[in-house]
Amino acid sequence: MTPTTGQADYRDGGLQFPRSFVFGSATASYQIEGAVHEGGRGPSIWDTFSHTPGLVWNGDTGDVADDHYHRLDEDLDLMKSLNLQAYRFSIAWPRIQPTGRGPANEAGLDFYSRVIDGLIARGITPVATLYHWDLPQALEDEGGWTSRSTAIAFEEYARIVGEAFGDRIAVWTTLNEPWCSAYLGYASGAHAPGRTEPLAALQAVHHLNLAHGLAIQALKRVVTNNPKYSVTLNLHVIRGEGGTGPEAVRRIDGLGNRAFTGPMLHGKYPADLLDDTREITDWSFVEDGDLEVINQDIDILGVNYYSTTLVRVWDGTGEKLNADGHKDVGASPWPAADNIEFLPQPGPYTEMGWNIEPSGLEELLLAVHAEFPNQPLMITENGAAFPDVVTQDADGPAVHDGDRIDYLRRHLTAAHRALEQGVDLRGYFVWSLMDNFEWGYGYSKRFGIVRVDYDTLERLPKDSARWYAELASTNRLPD
Ligand code: FCB
Repeated sequence: MTPTTGQADYRDGGLQFPRSFVFGSATASYQIEGAVHEGGRGPSIWDTFSHTPGLVWNGDTGDVADDHYHRLDEDLDLMKSLNLQAYRFSIAWPRIQPTGRGPANEAGLDFYSRVIDGLIARGITPVATLYHWDLPQALEDEGGWTSRSTAIAFEEYARIVGEAFGDRIAVWTTLNEPWCSAYLGYASGAHAPGRTEPLAALQAVHHLNLAHGLAIQALKRVVTNNPKYSVTLNLHVIRGEGGTGPEAVRRIDGLGNRAFTGPMLHGKYPADLLDDTREITDWSFVEDGDLEVINQDIDILGVNYYSTTLVRVWDGTGEKLNADGHKDVGASPWPAADNIEFLPQPGPYTEMGWNIEPSGLEELLLAVHAEFPNQPLMITENGAAFPDVVTQDADGPAVHDGDRIDYLRRHLTAAHRALEQGVDLRGYFVWSLMDNFEWGYGYSKRFGIVRVDYDTLERLPKDSARWYAELASTNRLPD
């Protein structure tokens, strides 16, 4: 195939990314580690949630997951064999502080020390996320993210890991997708801790924002190398339908995007968000000085992108549609937005039911760049679940996941187009290194470029892994 560029369907080939552009993969602690009772780890809200009957598909839990805790060296070798330049992993807070407070658990620190040293020994850059949703259960018992004290506890946790690993981590990310932690955790209840209280969700938004700011300050006080600081947001690419589209977009953009970028990057909550949510709260939990703490300079803004969102104001007749891409568990994750409808979008779709729309990624990167022109960006997650099939080929078992390669190609084309339009985009992390525990859907959704056999826990690189390995070794999108 000859190199093709400028394809209307984003199926370009042969595109060259800058030498400095980083290609990596991403995972999260609860989704891969297993060994939940080992090394002094305390319970997290996801242990409690997944062990509550009916909350996770098929009754799946992270008890064993990919058994990464015991297969660390094998997994590090696997990353090396795939030419990964960087690895984005998360640190499980309950491995470091089993009850969320107090002295560090040495066995927990040792485990992540081995992760980091193993990466560095293999020439892979460590990118660490402090919080990818596994809150120590003991803190949830005291109110979780509805409570200011959880943000204060997070500051202490950040200091501990900063002191332990602050000589070796290249990029620190405070939070992964605080949108999900706040709204899926406390409003819809689709995620742990499974609460369905709109006020709690808005309190969580603020305390997560505060935790972000406090953690950056704490890290900066103790690290000894010269790392980059970041946060990862799942910014929503929202499109409006019909005459009410713009109003619906404004509201969902406020709750979904500006509730985080406002305080973090502009130093204030958007006035329209405060107005829209007046029926729930006067936001008096925002204390004097909080916004200064939250508004930290960050070196990189991480964006996770999977698909787009289509909204309009509900006209009050017929059934209100709620195809927002999140597991439908009855309650809405969108506080004070009962009049907003989420419309189904044209396919094709991934196994998650998410529409495949690479132009959304280009649009997102350009929009963020326009609003924050000096802010370097990184795609910290992008990828797709498909119903993979293992075939027994002459040279052994294989997964010919052409659909995933196509998804990645199209989104990398979008990323490259954004780069060409002047967006300061530094890297791309495929979600995910390997199949894993996909939250409320358990093990039913496979996002990995490496297959995991959940009976034997064997790893099998899919075709997409080989394809990605070529990209990661050349920085050139294969033809
Ligand atoms: C993101 C999460 C990640 C994974 C992907 C599919 O929202 O950050 O852990 O579940 O979605």
